[in-house]
Amino acid sequence: MDYTERLENVTVLGAAGKMGSGILLLTALEMADLSLKPENKNRQFVLNAVDVSQQALSGVMRFLKAQAVKAAEKKTVALRKVYEDRADLIENQDIIDQYVFDVMNIVRPTVKLEVAYDSTLVFEAIKEDPEVKVKVLSQVDKNNKKSPWYFTNTSSIPIHELDEKVGLGGRIIGFHFYNPPAVQRLVELIRAKNTLAEIVEFAQQYAKNLKKTIVPANDFAGFIGNGHFMRDGLHGISEALRLSETMPFVEAVYMINKVSQDFLVRPMGIFQLIDYVGVDVCQYIMSVMNPYLPDEDLHSDVLDRYISLGVLGGQFADGSQKDGFLKYEKGRPAGIYDPEKKAYVPFSQIQANCDEKLGPLPQGAPAWKTIVGSPDKDDVFQKYFKELNGMKTLGAELAGRYGKRSKQIGLKLVADKVANSEEDVNNVLLTGFYHAYGPINNYFES
Ligand SMILES: NC(=O)c1ccc[n+]([C@@H]2O[C@H](COP(=O)([O-])OP(=O)(O)OC[C@H]3O[C@@H](n4cnc5c(N)ncnc54)[C@H](O)[C@@H]3O)[C@@H](O)[C@H]2O)c1
Repeated sequence: MDYTERLENVTVLGAAGKMGSGILLLTALEMADLSLKPENKNRQFVLNAVDVSQQALSGVMRFLKAQAVKAAEKKTVALRKVYEDRADLIENQDIIDQYVFDVMNIVRPTVKLEVAYDSTLVFEAIKEDPEVKVKVLSQVDKNNKKSPWYFTNTSSIPIHELDEKVGLGGRIIGFHFYNPPAVQRLVELIRAKNTLAEIVEFAQQYAKNLKKTIVPANDFAGFIGNGHFMRDGLHGISEALRLSETMPFVEAVYMINKVSQDFLVRPMGIFQLIDYVGVDVCQYIMSVMNPYLPDEDLHSDVLDRYISLGVLGGQFADGSQKDGFLKYEKGRPAGIYDPEKKAYVPFSQIQANCDEKLGPLPQGAPAWKTIVGSPDKDDVFQKYFKELNGMKTLGAELAGRYGKRSKQIGLKLVADKVANSEEDVNNVLLTGFYHAYGPINNYFES
């Protein structure tokens, strides 16, 4: 079965979710582009969008249409060539409308899992619960006579475990998109020990067509991305707890968030990132990873406490940020949750005092936004971190500890063979987390 044939009948499971909706969009565009090639004129392309929520599926179809319009607007010149034998398509708008029709025409939203029984390729993006994933994949595989291939988006479950529990004989690969899939370039590709070579080949072609950057990760719980992020997050939490022995917890959270953003020149502070992913999602990912890590305890009582208080972070359906460790006003952090008072303390009450305790940034400190795309950033960072490491302030000390820990985590991922190289670790943080420099660097000691 060649690449095109494999993509003739596809199912996305969990299609109404954060990740599933993006995977659906990218796959719908790829399938529509294939369907419009003259040599594929007689082929029928079907993309099933399966979810348990009918209402959410309606929302996804609206999202899909709006995104298909945007995609068409971006490539009207190329589409004009695709539709060159269509004399009825005159204006740009005609071309756009036709393309959107051709994309939407492929997609079948449904709550019925049975549609997947005819697919040759199944993307799995249902919630991160090993039992549910195994149950759903088993049901599909038992009833599908075409021996389909499975692309799972799991963030933490080892792929060989899904392979073995469902009995797939290697017809599965970890194809770990980042959030949101349509925007983020990175895909971690996780080949289980049994994964068939043809699946890897197909995955590479599919990623290339979607213009994704693949970083291979080995089949260990959490892979590279969460392998780094979860431990980095736990470091942030433990640093806040350590500081809170001598100051209120809200101040400690503010400071660690600020150090991990401004002092380390990252796009967000660590508590903002935990909120973005979801406090409960982070806790859950750690709980999935933990049984596979006998020498480590990836767990935080602080996360448990926040979850029990209903402080969860994550996003609203429109993509805006929900309150978590931090409170958000117009998408920007504006307060910190105090678990004792069960209320948010506005930044204005603590900011000046905390900033003074942290001390200043070195003169001319780079801002993440301006440095991230700069070709000379290594020179800038060498100078910046040399100066920061030489400062005798609380902020500099916390940043030094943080940078060092982040580097250790990265090095351990290589030593434990989760990543094949230091470069792969750095690439995941650079492309998947938008860091301006990789954690494995010479700015900090090991
Ligand atoms: N959110 C992220 O940042 C992120 C990033 C990378 C990978 N992932 C992984 O992607 C997967 C999905 O995560 P998400 O954040 O999109 O979750 P989500 O909760 O937004 O979406 C999950 C979807 O699955 C649906 N669902 C639940 N049970 C189902 C079933 N039995 N059959 C069909 N659909 C079902 C839900 O209705 C929901 O729409 C998880 O494995 C997660 O670890 C998430």
